[in-house]
Amino acid sequence: MTPTLTTPPAFPRAVRIAGTGAYAPERALTNRDLEKIVNTTDEWIVTRTGMRERRIAAPEQATSDLGSEAALRALADAGVAPEEVQLLLVATITPDYPFPNTGCLVQRRIGAKNAFCMSIEAACSGFVYGLETARHYIAGGAVDTALVIGAEKMSSILDWRDRSTCVLFGDGAGAAVLKPARRGRGIIASVLGSDGALSELLYVPAGGSRKPASAETVAAGEHFLRMNGREVFKHAVTNMVRAARTALHRAGLTPADVRWIIPHQANLRIIGAIAERLEIPEERFVINVARYGNTSGASVGLALDEAARDGRLRDGDIVMMLVFGGGFTWGATLIEWEKTS
Ligand code: ACO
Repeated sequence: MTPTLTTPPAFPRAVRIAGTGAYAPERALTNRDLEKIVNTTDEWIVTRTGMRERRIAAPEQATSDLGSEAALRALADAGVAPEEVQLLLVATITPDYPFPNTGCLVQRRIGAKNAFCMSIEAACSGFVYGLETARHYIAGGAVDTALVIGAEKMSSILDWRDRSTCVLFGDGAGAAVLKPARRGRGIIASVLGSDGALSELLYVPAGGSRKPASAETVAAGEHFLRMNGREVFKHAVTNMVRAARTALHRAGLTPADVRWIIPHQANLRIIGAIAERLEIPEERFVINVARYGNTSGASVGLALDEAARDGRLRDGDIVMMLVFGGGFTWGATLIEWEKTS
């Protein structure tokens, strides 16, 4: 399936990332800890996924709490006050409530009282979907300052009796402040795509309008995430590689031009397969899956912030964010990094 192109021929304003932030809960759950919960081993998890530990939120922490911490850090990094934010967008599949949207709850907590707020439900692709949505508002001139947050409390939808899923996911949040570019090209090209034909390969069966929560659905564990990992793996590699190639083509760039790839952190083997097919050395991928596991909509934001803060990302670098998630959804965004004033 051909990914949808979302880059019009000319944008009135280029858009940059002016600041990043991230938050990971304190509690680390190691593979050894998981050996005591389900029939698994550290060796299986490391060789199949590259994961060694993941963070688990405290019972009283909800997704908006994680997202608010990341948001405040991103605002501080950008030198932007909460009141300056005009669009606040949270990408999540683990909202605090079915409604109101988690964006409104973050707004209340951080004091972004002049923003309009919404959530995006694109699973692991959510952060890139959010960036692209915010970019259009800024590029078109409707908004000057946007805050995009990817936040998840995946531990709240995991079946801790199912070893094939509970070892894979973690909690966390990443955030970015978007503003008009000053010198560079900012976001150069983006590709977003979806395939709803395969929705049930990765989903939560109950708790929505198709199958409202009941004593029976809870007893059957249908309010937990279900995934056909082997199938998802294949589609993830195919679609991320295709999205990356299409975005590069649109931008008139080659893989050699990309300094850093920030992929969704689902599995080290998926990242390895993508690196091989794109012929980009793994050293140019930002990888932190060993420490956080798959944090779904938060993963790219967490990795982006890490690479920005430790100095890997430098002004002028071409950076590609590359995602795939439930839906299916996927996307690639190429940006010329321009942060230092
Ligand atoms: N410990 C030990 N054994 C296990 C575990 C475990 N934690 N989990 C599964 N196994 C067993 C299975 O039961 C199976 O045993 P069997 O052969 O006797 O039936 C065996 O290990 C192999 O299982 P597979 O599912 O084939 O293992 P695979 O190598 O495919 O790895 C994994 C599984 C890690 C889930 C991989 O398929 C994967 O990463 N898939 C992609 C996930 C992904 O990309 N998600 C992205 C989107 S997530 C989102 O949008 C929310």
